[in-house]
Amino acid sequence: MKILVTGGLGFIGSHTCVELLDNDYEVVIVDNLSNSNIDVLDKIKKITGKQVQFYQEDVCNYMAIDEIFKENKIDAVIHFAGYKAVGESVEKPIMYYENNLVSTLNLCKAMQKYNCKKLVFSSSATVYGSPKELPIKEDFALQTTNPYGTTKLMNEMILEDIYKSDPDFSIIVLRYFNPIGSHSSGLIGENPKGIPNNLMPYIVRVASGELECLNVFGSDYDTKDGTGVRDYIHVVDLANGHIKAIEKTFKDKGIHYYNLGTGNGYSVLEIIKTFEEVNNLKINYKIVERRPGDIAACYADPAKALEELNWEAKLGIEEMCRDSYNYILNSNKE
Ligand code: WQD
Repeated sequence: MKILVTGGLGFIGSHTCVELLDNDYEVVIVDNLSNSNIDVLDKIKKITGKQVQFYQEDVCNYMAIDEIFKENKIDAVIHFAGYKAVGESVEKPIMYYENNLVSTLNLCKAMQKYNCKKLVFSSSATVYGSPKELPIKEDFALQTTNPYGTTKLMNEMILEDIYKSDPDFSIIVLRYFNPIGSHSSGLIGENPKGIPNNLMPYIVRVASGELECLNVFGSDYDTKDGTGVRDYIHVVDLANGHIKAIEKTFKDKGIHYYNLGTGNGYSVLEIIKTFEEVNNLKINYKIVERRPGDIAACYADPAKALEELNWEAKLGIEEMCRDSYNYILNSNKE
């Protein structure tokens, strides 16, 4: 089976390509390198010992996507490609709506033309906004608080309408919680360009000495210790959730939605403490004011994914903290 992975050189995409190859799928990657690095391609080949077909193209360029489908018999698609920085989306909404929506429309147009109707879509828990209760279930109200989240919600609505118009489609929408960690080899991981927006990449750079001090955004939330609580999930567990989703597209038609989280919420201070213990170091941090747009707490009820995909997260917060740091230690050696 040949799987097209858009954004396949990115953080979650590259880990998913490794799991696909380890499960004997053929993989074709299309990535425009806007938020990824070409040397990840060799890392994927080194980890798996497998070949990968790569196209450096933008999914917003329809002709380029059409060419890929013309040259390859694609059996299913996993669509990661998209901009994903919440803060940037607030500053540049037109760029986010154009990129994240046109890419999905182009992809679905090509899929329909070439009769490829199995799609796994990378969505996000951000579509739930600030949940009224916890843990979050897939049938909770959907409400977004930033353009990035709204592009994810709009993409979900586009896919729903495509399925309604063509019931031959099999579409799996995966709503990620907070992916962190890296592959055990230390060869691939999360290394965003510029100053990291997210907690773990920032902690890792403080640990490596690249950044001076972590700002903890608020300690007056209604949570166990006043700091924000999130459902952190190991990126390898997340990648394996995509394998289960792809398997389901070959068994059932329809459109299905799944939370990919552990069901456990950890506070910022708990993450810092675990990271320090696991990696035997101290993280310099200070409490500052809340970050606008942040919510107090967010964690998943992952029961539906277990029941229908036979998937559940297996790696704990200690492995997430260890592997996140191991990746940076390894890449600083190179
Ligand atoms: C986690 C916690 C912060 C940085 C975002 C996107 C979401 C998804 C995952 C794509 C919060 C605190 C953070 C820092 C801090 N991305 N924090 N200091 O905001 O839960 O989710 O990434 O789908 O769409 O919104 O993740 O890692 O930014 O924050 O104190 O320097 O860490 O306040 O409580 P978030 P995060």
